[in-house]
Amino acid sequence: MVNEADSPKPPAGKSPEASAAEMMELVLPNDANLLGNCLGGRVMYLIDIAGFLAASRHCGRTVVTASMDSLDFREPIRVGEAVVVQARVNYAGRTSVEVEVRVLAENLAAGRRRPTCTAYVTYVALDGEGRPAPVPPVIPSTDADRERYRAAGERRRERLRRLGRLE
Ligand SMILES: CC(C)(COP(=O)(O)OP(=O)(O)OC[C@H]1O[C@@H](n2cnc3c(N)ncnc32)[C@H](O)[C@@H]1OP(=O)(O)O)[C@@H](O)C(=O)NCCC(=O)NCCS
Repeated sequence: MVNEADSPKPPAGKSPEASAAEMMELVLPNDANLLGNCLGGRVMYLIDIAGFLAASRHCGRTVVTASMDSLDFREPIRVGEAVVVQARVNYAGRTSVEVEVRVLAENLAAGRRRPTCTAYVTYVALDGEGRPAPVPPVIPSTDADRERYRAAGERRRERLRRLGRLE
């Protein structure tokens, strides 16, 4: 958990690169279904952890998961492959951030990676009393970041509409 005392005020804006996080893990038989593919629930767990890391880095506070958009597992990840999870903050609202988490399968012998799914996860920063707290703005620094920022803004409006929080 991030120590609140370490950062009492929200820091200035940050680029997505500044908080990006990557995790890698070997898929073992205990993580797999009867076909020898990594369980979807295990992948979702890793998505949430990687997203938490990037969101906490960006916010400089602890965060909670508010929502995960729909998730399509396009490719299996086999036992003996590595699962690579890459998280980056796309967008910041007032107290929440959208984190894009990409999941890749790596064939370690061949040294090849292939994309398997992408999740968009919203985290809310909390203050010491557990109330939503302001987060630093995201400062996109590349054209790709700017495009992710724009698309994330649209997804956020759609989420808020679904939640009845947007007129
Ligand atoms: C997330 C949580 C703190 C939001 O509380 P809330 O009373 O809705 O707070 P607010 O109305 O002040 O909204 C805070 C932010 O959360 C966002 N938010 C709330 N619910 C959301 C949802 N379902 N999806 C996306 N964003 C959401 C709001 O849009 C707002 O963002 P903004 O400040 O950037 O505009 C609260 O719902 C909660 O504690 N949920 C449980 C979290 C948890 O335990 N997760 C682990 C899973 S067990």
